[in-house]
Amino acid sequence: MESLQSKATEDTKEEGAAVDAELAKAIMARGFRPSVIGVEAWEGYRFHDQEIKIKESTDVYGAVLWPSAMVLCHFLDTNRDKYNLLDKNVIELGAGTGLVTIVASLLGAKVTSTDLPDVLGNLQYNVLRNTKDRCKYIPSVTELIWGQEVEQRFPRATHCFDFILAADVVYAHPYLNELMDTFDHLCQENTQILWAMRFRLDPENRFVDRFQQRFHLEELYDLPSLSIKLYRGWRRGRETRDHREAAA
Ligand SMILES: C[S@@+](CC[C@H](N)C(=O)[O-])C[C@H]1O[C@@H](n2cnc3c(N)ncnc32)[C@H](O)[C@@H]1O
Repeated sequence: MESLQSKATEDTKEEGAAVDAELAKAIMARGFRPSVIGVEAWEGYRFHDQEIKIKESTDVYGAVLWPSAMVLCHFLDTNRDKYNLLDKNVIELGAGTGLVTIVASLLGAKVTSTDLPDVLGNLQYNVLRNTKDRCKYIPSVTELIWGQEVEQRFPRATHCFDFILAADVVYAHPYLNELMDTFDHLCQENTQILWAMRFRLDPENRFVDRFQQRFHLEELYDLPSLSIKLYRGWRRGRETRDHREAAA
C-alpha cells in the first residue's frame, strides 16, 4: 500500500516536472535576438503574432526585462478567451521595459503603464515604438511610486481597473508594505490581479502569505525551473474582512 502511494507521488512529481519543463521552454522560446546587429541594441519577443522590440539599459533595475514578464505575457496570449482584455481598463505596476504593457495593449486593453520616474523614458520609448498604429488604445505611461499619493493620482471613485498586472515586483527592496498598500488601493470589488512572482529569498517570499491575508489567491502557473509562480488575486469579500478584523 505504502509503495503504491509513494509510486503515485513520484508519478505526480514527474508529471509536474514535465509540465514545468515544457511550459518554461515555450515561454523562453518567445524571445529572440536580432540576426543583424544594428546601431541600437534590442531584444525581440513574439506575442500575439507580432514582433516586439525591447530596448534595455543596464543602469537601473527597471530597464532590464525579467523572465516573469515573459511568463505573464505568455499567459495573457494563450488565455485570451478566459481573460479577454479587449476594452478592459488595465494598470501595470513596475512596468520596467514595458513588455507586459505592450502585450496587453496588443490584446486590446486600455493600459496605464506605471513605474518610477527614472524608468519612464525608456518605458515610454518601448511602449510607443511597439504600440503605435498597432493597437486600439495607445497606453498611457505615468509615474506611480508605490504608496505615494496613490489616492490623489488614482482616486478610487474615478479609477476602476478590471486588471492589475505585475511582474517581478517583489524582491529585496524596502517598499514591500507600500506595494501591498498600492495593490489594496487599486484593487476594487471586480478587479483581478495577475501577478508573476519570482521566488528568491525570505523575507520577501513571505509577501505571498501576507498577500493572502488581504486577497484570495489562485495559482495559475508553477514553474520551479524558473522559480516563478503566476497568481490571480482578487479582493476578499467585505464579510471576510469584517470577520477577520472582529477576530483580531
Ligand atoms: C525587477 S523589475 C521588473 C520589471 C518588469 N516588470 C519585468 O518583469 O521585466 C522591478 C520593477 O519595479 C519598479 N519599482 C521598484 N520599486 C518601486 C517603487 N517603490 N515604486 C514603483 N515602482 C518600483 C522598478 O523600477 C522596476 O521596473
